[in-house]
Amino acid sequence: MKNVIVLGAQWGDEGKGKIVDLLCPAFDNVVRFQGGHNAGHTVRFADRHFSLHLVPSGILHSGVDCFLGPGMVIAPDALNTELASLAEAGVDTTGRLFISDRAQVILPTHASLDQAREEASSGRIGTTARGIGPAYEMRAARCGVRMGELDAELLEQRLRVQHMRIMPELDHLGVDGMPRPSELMALCRTWADELGGRVIDVSARLAEKMAAGERILFEGAQGALLDVDHGTYPFVTSSTPTAGGVAAGAGVAPTRLDATIGVLKAYTTRVGGGPFPTELEGDVAEFLRDRGNEFGTTTGRPRRCGWLDIVAARYAHRLNAFDALALTKLDVLDDLDEIQLCTGYRYQGEVIEDFPSSLAVLEAAEPIYRRVEGWRAATTGVTRIDDLPLAARRFVEVVEELVGAPAMMVSTGARREETILVDPLAERLLGDRLSSVLEHRDGKAGV
Ligand code: GDP
Ligand code: IMO
Ligand code: MG
Repeated sequence: MKNVIVLGAQWGDEGKGKIVDLLCPAFDNVVRFQGGHNAGHTVRFADRHFSLHLVPSGILHSGVDCFLGPGMVIAPDALNTELASLAEAGVDTTGRLFISDRAQVILPTHASLDQAREEASSGRIGTTARGIGPAYEMRAARCGVRMGELDAELLEQRLRVQHMRIMPELDHLGVDGMPRPSELMALCRTWADELGGRVIDVSARLAEKMAAGERILFEGAQGALLDVDHGTYPFVTSSTPTAGGVAAGAGVAPTRLDATIGVLKAYTTRVGGGPFPTELEGDVAEFLRDRGNEFGTTTGRPRRCGWLDIVAARYAHRLNAFDALALTKLDVLDDLDEIQLCTGYRYQGEVIEDFPSSLAVLEAAEPIYRRVEGWRAATTGVTRIDDLPLAARRFVEVVEELVGAPAMMVSTGARREETILVDPLAERLLGDRLSSVLEHRDGKAGV
């Protein structure tokens, strides 16, 4: 499988960063194709810890080239900050981190608007206040600024049109002190100087790389239930984090995409507002939050926690057709006597098994649970499926069966080293590069 996609199967924060980092030795390139610095992807190994927001999680592997695809929205200052902190940590990004000339730019006005809307609104989405939504709005309205146009002639006109659209709402929300178009122009020119050397036609470069036989890993941000079309609208992000978004967002033909891995947390979390049928309150929620360290990588907000929602996971599988699952955070469940899996919802006396589109139904849906025996033993750091306690293996099998997709990886800790790769599926997807992934996991090679 040359070109593989890694996607979030829930509401984000499933552990995509860890999985992408671990798989890197099997790939030559890693591409982000949607979203922006609303993402927070954590990579840990040995005593190192990285939080990545815009930069693909492949950046820690010196032989891997990284791309910010055309479908992304990019805040240049945030990118500069991230690049500086990577440099400080000894990660050289020179000549291996490229930005699409077609990617949209998040302007300071977008972030202010996002934030002011959140503060004013009673039905808060709970966005990351990074300006993601407004930047995608400007793209759809055809007055967005693209990374390849930061010093273009047409920019001033584009910024004036944006200004006309955005200012009335900012005024209405009582936000003042916003930069004028001429000031934004100057800012864009600075960004062109700072980042212009990295801006290329990403789609064209990826086509060359594919022609040369290189392998590409596509790194999703957010998750299926935050998809702007298929998620719990309007409590979603403004992009397409499902498989359908990869081709459009990277500028790669769908026929070149070979396999999709869904990252699924052994329970569920959600940050921000919106329906969450299996949400828990009380002791178990506290336990999951503490043990799972469920606090936002980007905003530090405590994540809402609940049991694994199979109805939602099956829906994500329908949208994405996962060839394999990466089941993460199994170790977090270690001390529980019993674990619940939500296999359906009860709504007005009926049983629902397909994830509904209606917010009202989702809000009122009562989860129907299947109880699974806990294992009450430590799984942290286990790297062979046979070394898992019997009940933990049984849990993995039940999840595979109910979701309808096989697990290729089971994650037993935050660190790269703490991962099980399940054969023969891992070999089918990674081929002759599986051995490099294993060496890397075991700390014998790579960064
Ligand atoms: P992402 O946005 O999908 O990349 O996920 P985040 O990085 O936002 O959140 C996942 C969190 O769980 C991070 O703090 C990871 O270090 C951590 N993590 C990932 N996999 C595991 C695991 O298997 N066990 C434990 N205990 N933590 C994990
Ligand atoms: P990663 O890639 C979890 C959520 C926000 C909010 C909604 C809209 O780390 O999994 P936005 O700022 O995108 O307009 O916010 O989406 N959200 C995420 N939740 N993980 C993420 O990214 C998220 N990115 C956005 O909390 O509910
Ligand atoms: Mg995250």
